[in-house]
Amino acid sequence: MADCLSHLTLSPSQKTMASLTGAASSRLLPAASRARIHLSSPSSASSSRSPLSLSSSSSYSISPLKCLRSSPFVPHFFLNQKRSSMSTVAAASDPVQLKSAREDIKELLKSKFCHPILVRLGWHDAGTYNKNIEEWPKRGGADGSIRFEVELKHGANAGLVNALNLLQPIKDKYSGVTYADLFQLASATAIEEAGGPKIPMKYGRVDVSAPEDCPEEGRLPSAGPPKPADHLREVFYRMGLNDQEIVALSGAHTLGRSRPDRSGWGKPETKYTKSGPGAPGGQSWTAEWLKFDNSYFTDIKERRDEDLLVLPTDAVIFEDSSFKVYAEKYAADQEAFFKDYAEAHAKLSNLGAKFDPPQGIVLDGVAGEKFVAAN
Ligand code: HEM
Repeated sequence: MADCLSHLTLSPSQKTMASLTGAASSRLLPAASRARIHLSSPSSASSSRSPLSLSSSSSYSISPLKCLRSSPFVPHFFLNQKRSSMSTVAAASDPVQLKSAREDIKELLKSKFCHPILVRLGWHDAGTYNKNIEEWPKRGGADGSIRFEVELKHGANAGLVNALNLLQPIKDKYSGVTYADLFQLASATAIEEAGGPKIPMKYGRVDVSAPEDCPEEGRLPSAGPPKPADHLREVFYRMGLNDQEIVALSGAHTLGRSRPDRSGWGKPETKYTKSGPGAPGGQSWTAEWLKFDNSYFTDIKERRDEDLLVLPTDAVIFEDSSFKVYAEKYAADQEAFFKDYAEAHAKLSNLGAKFDPPQGIVLDGVAGEKFVAAN
């Protein structure tokens, strides 16, 4: 579900290979790699195409993923992928197409319940931004680079291939919408549709065109670093974000689940996730993990249920004296959380982006307009 795996099927060649290699191999494969994946090779395909990846290496990845990297199944699996029919990257996005794409995303959300993974995809495209590098796209950020295999296979991005596969049909339909915009549009729409605040978004992000433009691995945060507060500051300050924004954005974990076969964190299933919706399993931060509200903060504060996840980087927002001010505020006041979250999310979505036109394209009203609750 959240990652909406239920719609992803093995191609006949993958089924054959799975049966040849036996159950042991298929158990080693993370869910993402059992999915049907479009693949195109950077050398043979247009540079705008999106070669997708399966394996993962991460500061917090676990042994099954390491097994996967050495599995003889993997090269064969890649060789048997269908080539994608991805459209050419547009210089920037078209407002009419952006609005239609948004309607398609709403339909996708209704049928697949994939709000969380779409939010995570947008964040991981944008969160590579380095404010100390001026040059685009070397500085990273919301530039669509996560569609390339080289970046998608970064350990922190384990499982996000599923999000990309969900959005690809929409990308194929709207050649006038860039990947960079589509990822941010999908994320903001997912927040709004889950009951969160209206995000003051703008569009017109230009896509990077080649895998060589992808940032190096290691720019996204780890969940269990030795000093979580220092680590969060190091990573988010590099993006130009502050303590309040770190805490507000952490509240996105009100949605979704962590899966041991992806990040290595969380339980395989809990009473909240064992029946889905969608592909069951994983451990959520909140009981109603498809509803955007302030329960992430109240649940961490109360630690009321062992079935709910608290990563070391989540726990620290109530331990560090500066973070705690905001965490307490958001636990007590959902409206304050929504207001700060909406602003922080919009800022995150713009990090590193090159806009065409430079001021961006606003779909509803004025970007940066006063906060309004979406639902
Ligand atoms: C503060 C540092 C952060 C760390 C260390 C972190 C870490 C993680 C980890 C380990 C997972 C589980 C992934 C999996 O196993 O599939 C996850 C999921 C998720 N993260 Fe974060 N995250 C951080 C910040 C953020 C931010 C800023 C956002 C969005 C604004 C976000 C949105 C999400 C969402 C929505 C999921 C659920 C994905 C799903 O259900 O498929 N995270 N995060």
